[in-house]
Amino acid sequence: MSFNAAVAHNSALLHGNDFQIERVRAIDPLGADEACLRLREMNAAADIPAITAALRGLLPDAESARGYDMDTCLAVMRDLGMFLGSLKRHGVEPLELVPEATPLLLDLGVRTDMIPRDTVHHYCTWNPTDDRRRMYTGDEQEDHLQNSVRLVFPHLRAALELVHLLRGIEPTDPKFAVLVDALDRELTPMVTSIDGVLKNVTPKFFATVLRPYFEEIDVAGQTYLGPAAAQVPLWLVDEVVWASDRGAPDYLDFLHHSVPYSLPRWRELHESWVGAPSLVTRLLQAHAEEGDSPWTAPTLRASAVAIARMMRTIVVFRGRHLGIARQAYQEDLRLYPVGSGGASVELLREIIDLTRENSQLTARVGKPRAHPVEVSA
Ligand code: HEM
Repeated sequence: MSFNAAVAHNSALLHGNDFQIERVRAIDPLGADEACLRLREMNAAADIPAITAALRGLLPDAESARGYDMDTCLAVMRDLGMFLGSLKRHGVEPLELVPEATPLLLDLGVRTDMIPRDTVHHYCTWNPTDDRRRMYTGDEQEDHLQNSVRLVFPHLRAALELVHLLRGIEPTDPKFAVLVDALDRELTPMVTSIDGVLKNVTPKFFATVLRPYFEEIDVAGQTYLGPAAAQVPLWLVDEVVWASDRGAPDYLDFLHHSVPYSLPRWRELHESWVGAPSLVTRLLQAHAEEGDSPWTAPTLRASAVAIARMMRTIVVFRGRHLGIARQAYQEDLRLYPVGSGGASVELLREIIDLTRENSQLTARVGKPRAHPVEVSA
């Protein structure tokens, strides 16, 4: 591996690790703390000139920007992103007003190996958790939403490494069920997260106050979606578990459009998974080879039970999530016909149906059959 490739590889691994998160949260390279705090008032007043002036005032000179390390680049993108989303919320294309920010955004995108605007990782994970927290509104419901998303990322990071390991293990191997159970434990915080949202965030607040800040913006002729929770890459787990060869075109389309918004390491995993059969398919194949007999190996049955249980956790998250998404996007409340990830509530319904169908297929393999009754003469 060349030196540059090694640096890129290490950066990919570092993105999103705990010590790196702490550092990015702690730094304020643009001296933006005060402006970020004032942003809440500027947004409440829809004060476009003030937001524009603040954004201009934060832009560093080219010389300072050249000296940024990776963590600094991430923190700079986090802070600029707050102003980009705010301007768009008030109906203006941010880089038409502040075109001098474009080269910096493009450069930060290249240097962090991410899109040239902020993502959900900037808005939630790399955001300070104390009174330096960057928020569009300062409302405690925004705070809850940021926390809910923030809490799932360390677990998803572990989950994606587990699904990567599972690709190399046969469903007839006893380790398979153990790893799937570990995966299930990493996915359970998704349920905790959405329960917190249901309890603390109203569909009305999301639909009418927060959703407008997640609108897409144009950067150098390309459109980039805002930093919303739809970028939480549950779809990457699906991809390995069932979607790679059992997904519907609409969902695969959503998945492929979402990949650029993930962390470099996750894109790397995604690329290494292309063309591989899903876990569900491999399990069904192993079952077909063994035959649906009363003697189907207990290990294969245990693998099937574990997959069905893990997928059930995803269905529970998706069911509760669909509930709030439906309410936030009902016709008399919503300001936009589709989500900030560019997808509809109907797609969310379709994804749950697919998850459930695949889960039921595996559950069948897991069911013990009655042994044939021996009839004595
Ligand atoms: C008020 C709260 C929320 C609403 C109204 C909402 C709404 C939506 C909508 C409409 C979509 C469709 C895609 C798109 O946006 O274009 C979506 C996707 C998604 N959202 Fe949310 N969401 C909320 C909170 C959350 C939270 C807290 C999480 C995770 C912690 C989350 C995770 C996801 C995921 C993973 C997807 C992709 C589809 C999937 O994998 O099922 N959402 N959301």
